[in-house]
Amino acid sequence: MIIFKTSTHLSRFLEKKSLSGKQIGFVPTMGALHEGHIRLVRQAAAENDLSVCSIFVNPTQFNDPRDFEKYPSTLERDIQLLVPAGCSVLLVPGTGEIYPSGMDKLPSYDLGYLENILEGKYRPGHFQGVCQVVDRLLQIVRPNRLYMGRKDYQQCMVVKKLLQLNGMHTELITCDTVREKDGLAMSSRNQRLDARQRGKAASIFRVLEMIRAKLSEGGLEPLKREGRVALQDEGFRVDYVEICRADDLLPQDAWDGNTPLVALVAAYLGEVRLIDNMQVSF
Ligand code: PAF
Repeated sequence: MIIFKTSTHLSRFLEKKSLSGKQIGFVPTMGALHEGHIRLVRQAAAENDLSVCSIFVNPTQFNDPRDFEKYPSTLERDIQLLVPAGCSVLLVPGTGEIYPSGMDKLPSYDLGYLENILEGKYRPGHFQGVCQVVDRLLQIVRPNRLYMGRKDYQQCMVVKKLLQLNGMHTELITCDTVREKDGLAMSSRNQRLDARQRGKAASIFRVLEMIRAKLSEGGLEPLKREGRVALQDEGFRVDYVEICRADDLLPQDAWDGNTPLVALVAAYLGEVRLIDNMQVSF
């Protein structure tokens, strides 16, 4: 695995590979890697000639500065995990490489309603930050395929929109959420849970399963309320328990018995904010 710290060197290297017909798969990350990331890298390696991973904790997507400061960093360990996963190139840029003109006048993106619902509502500016960094990384890497995890369901939809906006021909490939044995979705933030919180964290998965099991035609509010109350009883501070159309993420009040739906949860245990989702009808 070759490690690059500068974007120009990486771009030059990858351009040569592209010109010689090599396919490039790209997995952007913020490090503190877990099996969820590693599966994306393995898939990128299996489906492309080169698999490129980036590790950059992007300041512009954090609406809470404490969350940014506390974001775990485990670079040595990440490198040890990436090599056997088949990662060929790793980019570990400094902030100046990603935002060479500073962070004051970054582009903004017309994401429509996606920007203001769910994560967008509770984390204002978050998806603009995600688009700023992903757009820049795509310009640097110019991949044929981009791999992202469906644990960040809304982020996948936002990035799909970004690809339409910037007219790039990169194919977005979304991959299943990887879970711990008790159902907790793997996330770098799980490292910040203490033992007691970790014991409770899988309640989010159980609430999603409960919604899937009880889903029936008609009003959805009672199900959302039941999920919210179950989490509050376990000591979570709940941002939302929502049920949305799976294809466009519009929140739904009722179900017609046919439309594919996804249930989504965001909730805090102490200072740690966890998100998860599950398709509850197909
Ligand atoms: O999902 C993440 O880890 C980040 O939002 C991403 C896509 C790497 C952009 O910083």
